[in-house]
Amino acid sequence: MDQYQPLPKRPRRLRCGATLRDAVADVSIKHDDLILPLFVTDKEDPQPVESMPGVSQLPVKAAIKAIGKLTDVGLRQFILFGVTSPEKKDPTGSFALSADAPVNQTLAGVRNMGHDVTMIADLCFCEYTDHGHCGVLLPDDPRTVVDNDQTLDQLRSAATCLAQAGADVVAPSGMMDGQIQAIRGALDEASFTQVCILAYSIKYASSLYDPFRDAGQGGMQFSDRKGYQMDFRRSREWQTELQLDIEQGADMVMVKPAVTYLDIIHQVRQACHLPVVAYHVSGEYAMLHAAAQQGWLDLKYAALETTYAIKRAGADLIVTYFAKELSEWIP
Ligand code: PBG
Ligand code: ZN
Repeated sequence: MDQYQPLPKRPRRLRCGATLRDAVADVSIKHDDLILPLFVTDKEDPQPVESMPGVSQLPVKAAIKAIGKLTDVGLRQFILFGVTSPEKKDPTGSFALSADAPVNQTLAGVRNMGHDVTMIADLCFCEYTDHGHCGVLLPDDPRTVVDNDQTLDQLRSAATCLAQAGADVVAPSGMMDGQIQAIRGALDEASFTQVCILAYSIKYASSLYDPFRDAGQGGMQFSDRKGYQMDFRRSREWQTELQLDIEQGADMVMVKPAVTYLDIIHQVRQACHLPVVAYHVSGEYAMLHAAAQQGWLDLKYAALETTYAIKRAGADLIVTYFAKELSEWIP
């Protein structure tokens, strides 16, 4: 070049050096943005979940201890799922209402220890029903249809049980119509007016829950969840679900899964003023681990990149199986 032409803009300037890159980064994740899912079981020993490396079903005592320890790395939000042995399952999932259910025992134990944490309890029946569906089945068409309104009655009782045991937040995940109103009513009637509802408002029927079904509940005996979870081919339906849950008294709303629905997370963030939670689900976790095990990508970098993407899309809080690792990796 015989004549030097100054470039008007050099974006690379701000990328030179880690300190400057840190300074100009405008998306951040803090420890309190993270919610760690835990599976609790009435078995004696921890049961590793094959499709979710690093995740185990934990006996109640171990879970209570783990929660105490995890506060040392800055984690303060946990969401509990129950694992029920087959002989305790029945058509209506009545074990969910028992104080002996591992979730209820873990909640009570954590409250007993006085840990300063937010305990969220997933509220659904698929972990407790013998057919594996998220509610009570209609008698005339038991193979495909969950009876919405009968399930609402059950949800009212189960929500009250969880609040009684010590849940700060209940998180109904079964996608029944009217579930937020039903649960809010039941909690208020039982004087649990301070217990929050985290609504799984926008939950798609996804392949990405398959490892969770390994971990938590054994899956359905027949059919699928398309009769109650959302169809990924509908791009606007989220507005209806969001509006209804807000009207019915949701305190926080969730979008699930996360990475395949970043467009939805972004739009939900624009459309509502409630805290938005995104669930980076079991299949999303398993995919990254599977590729990393092959040496095809770097797990830490991929997990960070993914979680920042969810945050950047608009999530305030993120439910992630990487929460513990992330809590060590973020500043
Ligand atoms: C139960 C429930 C599921 C998940 C959370 N709650 C599974 C499902 O709806 O089939 C999925 C979580 C995950 O995949 O990590 N209603
Ligand atoms: Zn369910």
